[in-house]
Amino acid sequence: MTDAHTPPVRGRILVVDDQRNMRATTALLLRAEHYTVFEAATGEEALAQLAGGSIDLLLTDLKMEPMDGLTLLRRALEVAPRLQVIMMTAFGSIESAVEAMRLGAYDYVTKSFKESELRYRVERALERARLLRDVDNLATDFNQRHGLSSLVGRSPAMRELTSRLMRVAQSDATVLIQGESGTGKELVARALHAHSRRKSRSFVPVNCAAISESLLESELFGHAKGAFTGAVKARRGLFEEADGGTLFIDEVTETSPTFQSKLLRALQEGEVRRVGESTALRVDVRTVAATNRDIEQEVREKRFRQDLYYRLNVVTLRVPPLRERLEDVPALAEHFLERANARSPKPKRLSAAAVTHLMGYDFPGNVRELENLVEQAAALAESDELLPEDFPLRVSRLTPAHGTPSIAVLEGQGGGPGRLVSTAGPTLAQVVEEAERHAITQALERHGVDLARVADELGVSSTTLWRKMKRLNLRPPSEPTRE
Ligand SMILES: Nc1ncnc2c1ncn2[C@@H]1O[C@H](COP(=O)(O)OP(=O)(O)OP(=O)(O)O)[C@@H](O)[C@H]1O
Ligand SMILES: [Mg+2]
Repeated sequence: MTDAHTPPVRGRILVVDDQRNMRATTALLLRAEHYTVFEAATGEEALAQLAGGSIDLLLTDLKMEPMDGLTLLRRALEVAPRLQVIMMTAFGSIESAVEAMRLGAYDYVTKSFKESELRYRVERALERARLLRDVDNLATDFNQRHGLSSLVGRSPAMRELTSRLMRVAQSDATVLIQGESGTGKELVARALHAHSRRKSRSFVPVNCAAISESLLESELFGHAKGAFTGAVKARRGLFEEADGGTLFIDEVTETSPTFQSKLLRALQEGEVRRVGESTALRVDVRTVAATNRDIEQEVREKRFRQDLYYRLNVVTLRVPPLRERLEDVPALAEHFLERANARSPKPKRLSAAAVTHLMGYDFPGNVRELENLVEQAAALAESDELLPEDFPLRVSRLTPAHGTPSIAVLEGQGGGPGRLVSTAGPTLAQVVEEAERHAITQALERHGVDLARVADELGVSSTTLWRKMKRLNLRPPSEPTRE
């Protein structure tokens, strides 16, 4: 039973002193301040208590037997690196106090301390402990939500993407992310930020397709008061918001050449000029841009400035379409279902048949389409187990990698990718075979004759791999195919 008047825990403190009187007095004083206080008579005892990991502050005597305060300090920080330590020293041992600080103690008090002085130093150390914990939590939080772990899929194509991503994340290089709609470009941009040295600063996204040309300029660069009708006060632009962090310029091809040249100048000079302002402001921004168009073609057709293209394209990350990594479908489907289940009182699970069904699809809308399909199925399905019929696909067969394409017609024109609509469904066996062929071919392309690695990557034994390759008439690339 907790007393309604008990104040919340203000901090957990461990007091270590081999002199019983001194220890008890200090503990008493701190308990009166509503801290939770533990006591230890020796360094060994203290280390055992610290191993539990719930202590925020260690307040220890310097001169103790057999383990002295400095040794305790050193070993305590090994078990609990975030621990705050205050050293209690006898009058006149200032050198030891300095040594303690050098070893990582936060502060020291001389043993003739006044109560108010101890209170003040303890509260300050605990404040620091709380601050460090918050920063830790924030970083973990952003990393969990946006780090590499948010990118589901262990296919060779995704692994290549993530390893490249990790390599460029550390640098400040401008990155251009290319990929069809719904492949996960924004997720990749966030992961880049989450793994960069800028991760504790802002990630600022701007979608060029969603804002009109004139607004876009003042959004990005800001404007002076009275720069245009409606500009009643001065405003910072997103470049300034992103100072120290990452600016994500999404759909960058959806801009005019005039805007593109302004963007180019800002990137080249590392400076922005607010609309209607004559002086420029220095900004330290890492730029990541994305497009789902064929940007090289946009350049060839003079819709996108070549100089800006070169400036953005220091490093390219290509996010592969889902149909080229169908091995990722099961993990992605599970991931989206788990998310849907977390919001629903009636958890659902995927049947093997449903997974096979999904793996036979070519996903013109990529991961986003799969995400929608799973959410819809989870919301609408009658039974606990999701079946193929819970996923109404507009197309039910892939174009085989070899031989004649399946019977399909292209629907839709211009703009977005056309959708394949089949007129006859394949058998389940055909779908499985096609998915296997696809996964194996991709792995073979990566590892060639190294079949042990191919098997490893696909999670099957070498014999199984060999058997499947024989049945599918697949051979390692360097071996000539016998007819
Ligand atoms: N590898 C992945 N793991 C988990 N979720 C993913 C993955 N890839 C994409 N998604 C999810 O799919 C949806 C689409 O991703 P995102 O918005 O990043 O795509 P995009 O490439 O930016 O698309 P567009 O070009 O249409 O803007 C998002 O909800 C995203 O969370
Ligand atoms: Mg996007």
